[in-house]
Amino acid sequence: MDTSLSRRDFVAASAALATAPFGAPVVWSRSSVKPAVISSSNGHMFKNGGDVTCVEKAYGLIESGGDVLEALIEGVNIVELDPADTSVGYGGVPNMDGVVQLDSSCMHGDKKWAGAVAALEGVRTPSKVAYRVASDTDHHLLVGEGAQSFARNLGFKIEDDLNTERSRKIWLDWKRRIDPAHFLDPSTRKKALMAMIEEGVLDPIHAFGTINCNGIDAEGRIAGVTTTSGLAFKISGRVGDSPILGAGLYVDGSVGAAGSTGRGEANLATCASFVIVEEMRRGAHPTDACLAAMRRIKSNTVEKRLLDDRGRPNFGMEYYAIDAKGRSGGASTNPQGRFALCDSDGPRLVDCAYAWG
Ligand code: GLY
Repeated sequence: MDTSLSRRDFVAASAALATAPFGAPVVWSRSSVKPAVISSSNGHMFKNGGDVTCVEKAYGLIESGGDVLEALIEGVNIVELDPADTSVGYGGVPNMDGVVQLDSSCMHGDKKWAGAVAALEGVRTPSKVAYRVASDTDHHLLVGEGAQSFARNLGFKIEDDLNTERSRKIWLDWKRRIDPAHFLDPSTRKKALMAMIEEGVLDPIHAFGTINCNGIDAEGRIAGVTTTSGLAFKISGRVGDSPILGAGLYVDGSVGAAGSTGRGEANLATCASFVIVEEMRRGAHPTDACLAAMRRIKSNTVEKRLLDDRGRPNFGMEYYAIDAKGRSGGASTNPQGRFALCDSDGPRLVDCAYAWG
């Protein structure tokens, strides 16, 4: 590992010394930040038959000196590959045509890298392809067939179908409920989805499920990744917030990282991850920054069909953020919403702030 002081380290050290009170020189330490990894709660649930969860894997790699973004990608790969999580990667709930189309983005704060793929078919780990867009190209977003061709050229295995027996069964159930004459109608689609949730065929997490994972290493390097199969039974070609920089993920290496799970359309119209990072830039704690984005979502939601009887957004949304001091936080429209955190105290779930509390 490179132990030389970077320009940023040098500036920070000089600033700390310059502001030290007389007689109490500040001894600036490179290990003053406590490494940490945060994610949506599925980062604490799935192990794909192995020993560790996403946040444990990523934290372990960061602790042993691995690159912060590479560590996070390896972490979310566990969830992407686990067919038990039907909201991400292999076995994700397919689109209206029964095809699994995946979205992912990643950002590396120190290297100023960004990469994303959208509507990618046939690759179980879209986050790895997003990483290669960031590391190997001067583009930021590849979509559809182009993204698949890029992955094929790099040697990724392309499969005909990423459905599992379970995800196909869920899709067939949806097909039976949908009137083909009205399949584009939002209320028809929502009715079918809600009925499936009420009957336990689909849990709410998996209707809009996604994993966002952000981390910081001991030297303050910050990164983030978001990956998803997107909205269950989406119109073919629909792209949500997850692969859109500033919406489903945003990282600024000197400020922090933020990402989201939940209704992508609301996030796209709000650029919520960017809003959160900008709030942190102004000094807000990550939790308060996430709550500020929630207020923005509320003020941007005016259509009656998207409001509950108290005039609040009737869809799920969660934000997760970590700042350059290593502080973390989250906010959720679910009063029981929690996020996963792994640091030197070990992996655990932490309560999100309630959006409408
Ligand atoms: N947040 C995931 C999606 O809406 O696609």
